[in-house]
Amino acid sequence: MNLTIDRDRLLSEIEALASISEAEPPVVTRIVFTPSDLKARAWMIARCNEAGLAVRQDAVGNTFARWNGSDPAAPVVGTGSHIDAIPNAGKYDGVVGVLGGLEAIRALRRSGFRPRHSIELLIFTSEEPTRFGIGCLGSRLLSGALSPNAARKLTDNDGATLEDVRRRAGFAGELDQVTLPAGYHEAFVELHIEQGPLLERQQIPLGIVTKIAAPASLRILIDGSGGHAGGVLMPDRHDALCAAAELILAIENAARTSGAIDTVATVGICNVFPGAVNSIPSRVRLSVDVRDTDRQRRDLVMHTIDATCHSISANRQVEIHSELLNADAPADCAPEIIEALSHSCRKHELNFIPMVSRAYHDSLFMARIAPVAMLFIPCRNGYSHRPDEYAAPDDIVRGTLVLAETLATLSR
Ligand code: GLV
Ligand code: MN
Ligand code: MN
Repeated sequence: MNLTIDRDRLLSEIEALASISEAEPPVVTRIVFTPSDLKARAWMIARCNEAGLAVRQDAVGNTFARWNGSDPAAPVVGTGSHIDAIPNAGKYDGVVGVLGGLEAIRALRRSGFRPRHSIELLIFTSEEPTRFGIGCLGSRLLSGALSPNAARKLTDNDGATLEDVRRRAGFAGELDQVTLPAGYHEAFVELHIEQGPLLERQQIPLGIVTKIAAPASLRILIDGSGGHAGGVLMPDRHDALCAAAELILAIENAARTSGAIDTVATVGICNVFPGAVNSIPSRVRLSVDVRDTDRQRRDLVMHTIDATCHSISANRQVEIHSELLNADAPADCAPEIIEALSHSCRKHELNFIPMVSRAYHDSLFMARIAPVAMLFIPCRNGYSHRPDEYAAPDDIVRGTLVLAETLATLSR
C-alpha cells in the first residue's frame, strides 16, 4: 500500500475553512448553528461528496461521511472531530481531525486499499460549550451520555431552546434517533492538536493519548444589591462583584492547592450587571471550568467551591446560586487502538510518546460506546483557543499519514 498525503490540498482546505468565520482573519469564531457554522458544514459536505463519500446528518447535525467497506454488516471504523470554534479561536482545533480524517480516507482510496469495515468520517455538533453551556453536545447524544429529554431542556445564551435552534438550522428529525446502536463502531480514532506544550518541548512529532481528563462546569449567579456609587457607604454594601472576586480567587486557590499539578480551574466568563462605572454591581454571572485526571480530586475542588459559595454568601449577605452543568468521568483509551497507532508510527519511523489529554474531546464520550484512542500533533507554544494557534504543515501531514495507516489496520 503506497500511502501519500496530498499536503497542498490539505493545507489549502484548512485555510479555506478558516476563512468561514464570524470574525476577521486570522481570528476564527464559528459558533454552532450560526450562519458561519452552517456555511462551514455545507462546505465540508461538498468536500466529502467530492471524495465519493455518502453523507448523512442526524437530528442534532452530527455529520457522517461513509466509505463503504466490502462487508456492509461489519461495524464501522470511525474518525473525525469538530469544526465549531469558540469566540476568538484559531484554525486548527478540531479542524485538523476533520480535514486530516478526510484526507486520510482520500489517501487510502488513492492507494487502492479496499477496507472490509466501512470507514466513516464523523463531524460532531458543538464540541465547544459556547452556545448551550455544555461541550460535546453531539457526542453526548450519540453515546447516550445526555438523554434526548435533557437535551430538549437546553437553552442557549439568549434563552432559545436547542429544539428551536436546531430546527431553524434545518435539522428537523427527532433527538431520540441520534443515539448510535450498540456495537456501531469497531473503533474510533481522533486526530487533534495537543493544545499543550509537551510534544513541542520534547521535540516529539506524535502523542498517543491513553487517557482523557475529567471535565466539570458550573454556572454561578450572585445577587447582591445595587445602588449609587457615591451615596451608598461601604458598611452598607452588598456588592455582587466583590463577592465574585473573592470567589474567583478561592476557586484558583482550590485548584492550586489540590496536591496535584493535574488539577486546573478557570473562571472564563464574568458578566456584571448593570455594568456602569457609577453603579454598584447588583448581579454577576460566572462560568467555572474544573478539570483533573483524577475524578475524586476534581470533585473535592467542586465541594470546596460549593462550601466557599455558602461562606461568602453568609459573610457578605449576597445570594449565590450555583448550577452544575456537567461533571463527567475521565476516559481510558483502548489498548488495541493504542497498539494500532503505535504500530503505524513505528512503520513510518516516527517517534511518539504516550500522553494524557487534559482538554476534553468528543472521544471522551465516544469511549462510552466504542474502543477509542486519539493521536496528538504538536502546536506552537502549546497555544490553543486563541487566534495564534498554529500547527506546522509537516506535523499535520505526519499525523494524517499515521491516521490513514491506522484506519487501514483497523478496517482490514
Ligand atoms: C475543548 O474545547 C476543551 O475545552 O477542552
Ligand atoms: Mn476547543
Ligand atoms: Mn477540539
